[in-house]
Amino acid sequence: MHLQRFVLLASALHAVSAHRQPPKKPLEAASLFQSAAAPASPLPIIQLYKPVSIPKSPQCNVQQTLMVHTFASSYGVPYVGQYTPPDCDFNNVVIEWTVTSAGRQFDRLAEMYLGDIEVWRTSTAEPTASGIIFRYEKDLSMYLSLWKSPQKLIFELDNVYDSTYTGAFNTTLTATFSYNSAKPAHADLILPITPQLGASGQRSIFTLPGDSATVQQTFPRNISHATVSIAATGQSNEEFWYTNALQSDIHTFESTVGTLLGYGPFREVQLFIDDMMAGVAWPFPIIFTGGIAPGFWRPVVGIDAYDLREYEIDITPFLPYLLDGKPHAFSIRVVGMDDNEGNGPATLSEASINSYWLVSGKIFLFYGDESYNGTHAAPTISTSPVVQTTSNIGTTNNGINSTNSTLSYSVTAKRTYSAKSSFGSWTQSLDYSNTGFLGQGGLASSNIQKTAGTSAAVVNSAPDFSNTLSYTYPIIANTTYASANFSIFNAYVDYGLKISSSGRPDVSTYSLVSGPMNLDERQFGEAYYSSVPNSSYSFGIMDRKFKEVSYGTPYSRHVKTNNLTITYDSTA
Ligand SMILES: *[C@@H]1O[C@H](CO)[C@@H](O)[C@H](O)[C@H]1NC(C)=O
Ligand SMILES: *[C@@H]1O[C@H](CO)[C@@H](O)[C@H](O)[C@H]1NC(C)=O
Ligand SMILES: *[C@@H]1O[C@H](CO)[C@@H](O)[C@H](O)[C@H]1NC(C)=O
Ligand SMILES: *[C@@H]1O[C@H](CO)[C@@H](O)[C@H](O)[C@H]1NC(C)=O
Ligand SMILES: *[C@@H]1O[C@H](CO)[C@@H](O)[C@H](O)[C@H]1NC(C)=O
Ligand SMILES: *[C@@H]1O[C@H](CO)[C@@H](O)[C@H](O)[C@H]1NC(C)=O
Ligand SMILES: *[C@@H]1O[C@H](CO)[C@@H](O)[C@H](O)[C@H]1NC(C)=O
Ligand SMILES: *[C@@H]1O[C@H](CO)[C@@H](O)[C@H](O)[C@H]1NC(C)=O
Ligand SMILES: *[C@@H]1O[C@H](CO)[C@@H](O)[C@H](O)[C@H]1NC(C)=O
Repeated sequence: MHLQRFVLLASALHAVSAHRQPPKKPLEAASLFQSAAAPASPLPIIQLYKPVSIPKSPQCNVQQTLMVHTFASSYGVPYVGQYTPPDCDFNNVVIEWTVTSAGRQFDRLAEMYLGDIEVWRTSTAEPTASGIIFRYEKDLSMYLSLWKSPQKLIFELDNVYDSTYTGAFNTTLTATFSYNSAKPAHADLILPITPQLGASGQRSIFTLPGDSATVQQTFPRNISHATVSIAATGQSNEEFWYTNALQSDIHTFESTVGTLLGYGPFREVQLFIDDMMAGVAWPFPIIFTGGIAPGFWRPVVGIDAYDLREYEIDITPFLPYLLDGKPHAFSIRVVGMDDNEGNGPATLSEASINSYWLVSGKIFLFYGDESYNGTHAAPTISTSPVVQTTSNIGTTNNGINSTNSTLSYSVTAKRTYSAKSSFGSWTQSLDYSNTGFLGQGGLASSNIQKTAGTSAAVVNSAPDFSNTLSYTYPIIANTTYASANFSIFNAYVDYGLKISSSGRPDVSTYSLVSGPMNLDERQFGEAYYSSVPNSSYSFGIMDRKFKEVSYGTPYSRHVKTNNLTITYDSTA
């Protein structure tokens, strides 16, 4: 109903709420979907992913139900349960979440925590009047050291439930514990970079801007290598950050479509240790199931919608500095762009993001045989971000007045980063470009964004943990509104994700597997959205390809969807 790039005006669809966090912004279309041929049984809404295999083992094969819960009016009210480990020798944990819902509802973000540590960030499909069902399986063996002791299990799914938003989410979460004879490695100790509110039955997550996402942590001295994993998700005015205009251009179409969302289309997630940069991530443009137009994402959701990958940064080079038995500050920042009147270099700052990002992190620590007795010097760090912008406004003159008719802008960014010490090295190289265009006085918009990067970790004490990673995620997103009442639009999306990971012996929070992994995903198509009082609908045509090679086996699936129907489905 609203172009995602505008600062939101009052909306009939807006769910007024006095909750801790604002409800989802109504630019994301809720499912006011009218289905011509309503299916009798719940419609399955799937994500394309490689099925998770569960090892069969004589010593342990136990399934536990961790949660049976309905999320109705659940803003700031998580499910809180007590987890007790099964009484058998396990080293493999796979969870499965099954959800049903019927009615009218936005997509919702959800997170699962063991104590103070977020272990899974997911989102829901949007229900139809006649009901949907979705299911997702995930390997959580990397958190084995947490699973081995009793934990408070906290599951947050902030939902609004009233006479307008009539969809509640009925959910069941199970875990299967088993023994994998391949014995994937796992961290010995996992420390949170979170507000640590688990003991009080609340979720442990930071909201930026606003919070200071900083914690003090003290390491045991016998650590041989360490990784930080960061979850970071743009919400509300930052959900479609990759379509945001340069700050100096936000008033270009004030008279036709209102103020544009600003601070540019580039964001960087940064990790700092005692104010030294330890690495960065350039976020993947996750599109939730109401994102841009809901018609795209039924009955197959967008890339990673059920499993938001985390970003991994190897901090092994910092260990000589950190292994002094003293607390050190770990901080997560999200920065946006201050442009220089639209042309030239831009600076990155924490003051330059809209509201808001949800971030959390954790430190995976691996014990070595000995305690470190050496000097506590910081690693040698070198980094250079370069961000450049251009902007150009096209005007038309009717003889009396001049009006802005088009806005073209571009952003390019590059960063290299490296940290080196006697323990190892971490290097990154990232490249980014975004070309934005608004025409028809702001009613038509398009963004073409490319993000690509490589990283390499060298771990001297554990060479099998040394690894390389490369990734690329291009996106093209076009939206054209019929008129400035924003009730009808056409949209086009073409995006993908390619990852090539040499892997490590433990399960990665980024590749989601242990060992080498190659992923190649693409989804493209078009959708239509129309909203008139009490009768709104969205439909779309999409082509989706998924291909993953992991654990030495390939899996691929090619699915075409048209409205609510899968019209082509081929698995290999
Ligand atoms: C959710 O659970 C409630 C209570 O058991 C039930 O009445 C309702 O039909 C369920 N809804 C869906 C969509 O499964
Ligand atoms: C490393 O240190 C921790 C904390 O002092 C201790 O619990 C653990 O047993 C040690 N591990 C090894 C392998 O020495
Ligand atoms: C045209 O765009 C410029 C730059 O964003 C802005 O300052 C100006 O107010 C706009 N003009 C009109 C008529 O909206
Ligand atoms: C650290 O000192 C202890 C005690 O002197 C010694 O046993 C150990 O080998 C030393 N460790 C290293 C890595 O030098
Ligand atoms: C010119 O701009 C003025 C002030 O914004 C407006 O009142 C007037 O209607 C415009 N005239 C034309 C011909 O667009
Ligand atoms: C998307 O927008 C770009 C730039 O305006 C345009 O070149 C392209 O044809 C559009 N693609 C579609 C499918 O609408
Ligand atoms: C919005 O504009 C469209 C034309 O683009 C028109 O058909 C529709 O009636 C308008 N809706 C409202 C609520 O004014
Ligand atoms: C929309 O539905 C509501 C309640 O279901 C009703 O009060 C209202 O009159 C309807 N509006 C239109 C334009 O049909
Ligand atoms: C998709 O659904 C819309 C709305 O119900 C309908 O007009 C359109 O014909 C459908 N498209 C196809 C190809 O079935």
